Amino acid sequence: MPINRVESLVYGVADLAAGTRYYENWGLELVERSDSGALFRTPTGQTIRLLPMDDPSLPPAPDGEKSTLRQTVWGVDSADDLEAIAAEMAKDRDVVRAADGSISTVDESGFSIGFAVSQPGDVKVEMPKVNLNENAQRLNVTVAAIPQAQPLRLGHVVFYIAPEGADRAVSFYIDRLGFRLSDSTVGRGDFMRCAGSRDHHNLFLLQRESGAGFNHAAFEVRDFDEIMMGGAYMKSQGWEPDTTPGRHILGSNLYWYFRNPCGGNTEYFADMDCMDDDWEPRIWDKSPGFALWSIDDPDQPSTPPAASMPS
Ligand SMILES: [Fe+2]
Repeated sequence: MPINRVESLVYGVADLAAGTRYYENWGLELVERSDSGALFRTPTGQTIRLLPMDDPSLPPAPDGEKSTLRQTVWGVDSADDLEAIAAEMAKDRDVVRAADGSISTVDESGFSIGFAVSQPGDVKVEMPKVNLNENAQRLNVTVAAIPQAQPLRLGHVVFYIAPEGADRAVSFYIDRLGFRLSDSTVGRGDFMRCAGSRDHHNLFLLQRESGAGFNHAAFEVRDFDEIMMGGAYMKSQGWEPDTTPGRHILGSNLYWYFRNPCGGNTEYFADMDCMDDDWEPRIWDKSPGFALWSIDDPDQPSTPPAASMPS
């Protein structure tokens, strides 16, 4: 049952106007907008739907008393794959079918999850070009300013889960839905990728004592320039960063996080680790840390990354 990617996100939001402005500033294409919602799309055909948080069509969420993500829809290869997932899920939970053929159910932590056949957009990616010593990929070409980021795709989602039952929550995705484990920190969190993806993670389940909730959704941009110029534009529009820019240790991706009025954070990311089934999952007894490096936060002294190794 090859699941490829995050196909769609559905938020329930308290302030629809603010949420819509946020995602416009973030750089997604606004496809539809009305008093009762907004729909955005990435160049690769993934969708982000914003609905009023009291919309009766929204499924409940563990942290649904405030603006948050109410459903994650995973994209699969074919209608046959969808049927295989429906049969697997129906073994021990209710499965609801929508008019468009998609199905939805609930995971072990109480998050609503859906499955739909992927609708990939036809996007051509031009690789960033760099100059180094005698190697000039960018001969006679200057670096252009970017007024606003234009994320290519939605790469991953991150949820908090309760420590109790965390093994079961992770096993649901790996053993029932075919996700691969990339990195795991004992008692802390598990990075997983879809069977049809080479991203270091499309899903990260992060344990916290106060229980389940949405953490962030991450959007891939071309390079660090786009992270920095896109982030500067977000700040100019009044949106607050949640971190300074940096490069993660697990996943190796460059990042910058912002606080989303729709719930949780969004992350611009670039240059994440890619892996296939030759990758041996790493099990860490102790967290190797958050960042290889990060730009100094005036509110928090920077700390060098721990030089720990996986067990
Ligand atoms: Fe992330």
